[in-house]
Amino acid sequence: MKNENIYVTQPVMPPLEQFTESLKQIWENKILTNNGPFHQQFEKELAAYLGVKYVSLFSNGTLALISALQVMRITGEVITTPYSFVATTHALHWNGIKPVFVDIDPVSLNLDPKKIEAAITPKTTAIMPVHVYGTPCNVEAIKEIADTYGLKVIYDAAHAFSVDVNGNSVLNYGDMSILSFHATKVFNTIEGGAIICNDEATKKRIDYLKNFGFASEIKVIAPGINAKMNELQAAYGLLQLNTIGTCIAKRKTISNLYRKLLNEVKGISFLSDFEGVKHNYAYFPIFVDAKEYGKTRDALYEELNKNNIYGRRYFYPLISQFPTYNGLPSAAVGNLPVAESVTEKVICLPFYPDLSEVEIKKIISIIEIFKA
Ligand SMILES: Cc1ncc(COP(=O)(O)O)c(C=O)c1O
Repeated sequence: MKNENIYVTQPVMPPLEQFTESLKQIWENKILTNNGPFHQQFEKELAAYLGVKYVSLFSNGTLALISALQVMRITGEVITTPYSFVATTHALHWNGIKPVFVDIDPVSLNLDPKKIEAAITPKTTAIMPVHVYGTPCNVEAIKEIADTYGLKVIYDAAHAFSVDVNGNSVLNYGDMSILSFHATKVFNTIEGGAIICNDEATKKRIDYLKNFGFASEIKVIAPGINAKMNELQAAYGLLQLNTIGTCIAKRKTISNLYRKLLNEVKGISFLSDFEGVKHNYAYFPIFVDAKEYGKTRDALYEELNKNNIYGRRYFYPLISQFPTYNGLPSAAVGNLPVAESVTEKVICLPFYPDLSEVEIKKIISIIEIFKA
């Protein structure tokens, strides 16, 4: 039975016949995990597709983030954004690191480089920015600060699959970047993730750490974890590479239609493309100005739900507002004014390659009619 609900996303899956062929090969060679042939091929093809040097596959993005911090031996305090999915800060917490929240830039919604320096203390060892919604951070400004203060930069690039800045992958900035291939992402392997790095020695250390710390059959070099991607996911991911270009092109078309139709609705704003950036159109956030629109964000959110349209309030509340983190000095009310304002306005509208024009027009007409 066809589900009439329109959700915030719908996963793109490879053709079943092709995946069945891959499964037959896996059943024949009986290698299911531990750097098998599909895993090796996927790492190579992914690096070539993304235009990066080294890819280390993971079972999910959260374990990739946690492991990246271990690999770089990050300790003390790390500067990060409150406007992200909670896993960004959880990864710090799991490493015993104190998160220090810094406000976001009102245009990109990413960590504001102008506000980073004031948050650096003798305990700061790294910056962990997020390319939120796939919009690149101000990577040059962050690099300059990191170089000046001797800090590492680990990008949470969970949203930034296949995003380029001036013709170069955004994943090439910083010491490492982390991807998520969760079912909700632009590129999915059901669950999955990766660390991107620039040198072979680091890639080796990452590979040890995601396999319990084993450097050889009898040598364990660190308290590693089990975060390996299995062969079924790797085979599935390889097939996804065949269609990802078309998927991103479809997302761009949908994004342009949304923008055109929303231009007419007073009180609703949205993100524009950035100069020099090849976007991946990962999300379609809108921002409700309650005064101009005449209704609050939450009222519109409920109205959409009533019509079986399930957007999501990414990212509300802020990570710094969750009880786990709201006692931190940097989480104090008023310390993050831009993020505190944006989080009250945002709804991510349904957005995926197979979203039809009829569905888009239905969503927009509900937004238009509901306006006071
Ligand atoms: C910004 C961000 N970081 C980290 C993650 C965690 O990735 P995963 O779900 O693959 O563990 C996600 C999404 O799930 C995310 O959106």
